[in-house]
Amino acid sequence: MTKSLKIAIAEGLPPQTLFRLRSIKRALMGQPPPEAPQSAPTPDPDAQSASSAGEVQSAPQEVRTRQTEALERLDAHKISAPYLFFDVDDVLILPAKEIARTLTLSVMYINSADVKGDIAEFGTMGGFTARTLANAMVFDPRYQPNQPLRKLRLFDSFEGLPEITAQVDLESQHVKSGTWSRGGCRVLSAAELRTMVEAIIPPSRVQIYEGWFADTVKQLPDETRFALIHFDGDLYSSTMDALAPCFERGFISKGAVLCFDDWNCNEADPEAGERKAWADLVSRFDIVASHSGDYSIQSTKFIIHSYRGMKPRS
Ligand SMILES: C[S@@+](CC[C@H](N)C(=O)[O-])C[C@H]1O[C@@H](n2cnc3c(N)ncnc32)[C@H](O)[C@@H]1O
Repeated sequence: MTKSLKIAIAEGLPPQTLFRLRSIKRALMGQPPPEAPQSAPTPDPDAQSASSAGEVQSAPQEVRTRQTEALERLDAHKISAPYLFFDVDDVLILPAKEIARTLTLSVMYINSADVKGDIAEFGTMGGFTARTLANAMVFDPRYQPNQPLRKLRLFDSFEGLPEITAQVDLESQHVKSGTWSRGGCRVLSAAELRTMVEAIIPPSRVQIYEGWFADTVKQLPDETRFALIHFDGDLYSSTMDALAPCFERGFISKGAVLCFDDWNCNEADPEAGERKAWADLVSRFDIVASHSGDYSIQSTKFIIHSYRGMKPRS
């Protein structure tokens, strides 16, 4: 079945039926249950000039989301900080808890340090980390120093991993073993991810870019800025496809956090995957960054201080 047909059928089902089917699918895959059914997504009025073939638009009206509930609770002094708003499902497993903790603290850091820009995730798969980032963003209306509110920009092919052709990747242990291969890591459709994330923050704060990183990043407007990037695309080539244009075009703000989910994959080989990509990016763009700590099983993060082509704060 083609992806568009699958989406069309899914969108034609009653929300409760769709919710039950997704619950069964996710239970079979050992994943947390999906968010409760929401109204169907419609185009985003707020979309920048990034509107393009790769960009999936979101809804015009502000719907009641977890952000609404979180702010009501905050204002009623019933909840004091974002970390109290983790999903129970997300914190049951230690590695997932570590990731949720790091991403949440990173969102709190960009607000407290007033780092300019949106939040981007490259590699959304089952939506766990996208959902975590969205959950961490529900308090932005009270804690973010500047308007407009940050957007969550989510990039994925929604077809799984690309064809693996780069020599660096062909020599990677996970590629040789077949763990990483074309079409691997395909879980949610863009519509399913949208439903999940828009239950947490309003549609106006969510932008989904469907397609290969190399194509969708090109569509971003020059004024794009990122305060936090969660990179979870596994491969050397995918890392370069996503991040090289972001540095080239000065999208990454001073003080931004850059998280690499797969840093210690491939036996932490510096000649493979995200480690090799980062070394190449540092040398190509003269990046000065602080290594600010490993987290979970295989992840690490940096804070960006400067690089060739970094734009001044406007
Ligand atoms: C390990 S999964 C991401 C896991 C996700 N963060 C989560 O919490 O479930 C890797 C994802 O990256 C995507 N991906 C990898 N390389 C890509 C590329 N070059 N362009 C677009 N998507 C890519 C795959 O489709 C896959 O969904």
